Amino acid sequence: MNLILLGPPGAGKGTQAKRLEDRYGLKQISTGDMLRAEVRSGSEIGLQAKAVMERGELVPDAIIIAMLAERVAQPDVAQGFILDGFPRTVPQAEALDLVLRDKAMPLHHVIELQVDDAALVDRIAGRFTCARCGEGYHDQYKPPAQAGVCDQCGHTGFTRRADDKAELVAARLDAYHRQTAPLLPYYAAQGILRVVDGMAEMNEVARQVEAILGPVP
Ligand code: AP5
Ligand code: ZN
Repeated sequence: MNLILLGPPGAGKGTQAKRLEDRYGLKQISTGDMLRAEVRSGSEIGLQAKAVMERGELVPDAIIIAMLAERVAQPDVAQGFILDGFPRTVPQAEALDLVLRDKAMPLHHVIELQVDDAALVDRIAGRFTCARCGEGYHDQYKPPAQAGVCDQCGHTGFTRRADDKAELVAARLDAYHRQTAPLLPYYAAQGILRVVDGMAEMNEVARQVEAILGPVP
């Protein structure tokens, strides 16, 4: 099964994608994570993307589309994938349609996580991750069981994303409303758009998503 999780920054795409990976055996493809890895490695793509990301704007379509096309050609995604953070513009969605058609890979669902802008600021500003294993946390909504210690791996170091500053959230939301929201009618016209209440508590969101996907195979 192949699906897209669509929603504004902080909507819970990454959180739900991780759960679906474990439960359904799908592969998460996060273009944000891929770009942050490029920035860390100091690659050509990373150098081009860094400043754009730090302004809360979108990286040019040509870079992202080439990166994504290469990723979906790898054998580990053949069992099914969850696109998290891609597509983000209509040209990206059109390019994805072509890539998938070429590989005879269907797109089964596009799931929109609907969250109010006001809640997103709070979610993004409180987010942090384990520096060793990458497990995601939130100061208020998902603190580690023991303060300062990762539940998953016991590590005591955490990181916050460079673009998670409150003053950048407005720019990221603006990019979402102007450039990404047009994908909602795009996928509605294809008959594959489904909507979930992303304001609900994380387990309830997961329950709604699983109701769309059907029983775990
Ligand atoms: P990217 O990394 O994709 O970030 P984003 O879309 O801004 O999404 P986030 O990762 O911020 O949020 P999320 O929806 O995954 O939320 P999460 O689950 O973490 O993109 C970053 C940048 O890269 C972009 O700005 C752009 O520059 C560039 N980029 C990436 N892809 C691109 C593309 N295709 N084209 C062009 N540029 C691209 O949840 C957030 C927090 O809330 C967490 O702490 C979590 O614990 C908590 N939480 C989650 N669910 C709930 C809930 N139900 N209730 C309460 N708290 C919750
Ligand atoms: Zn950890």
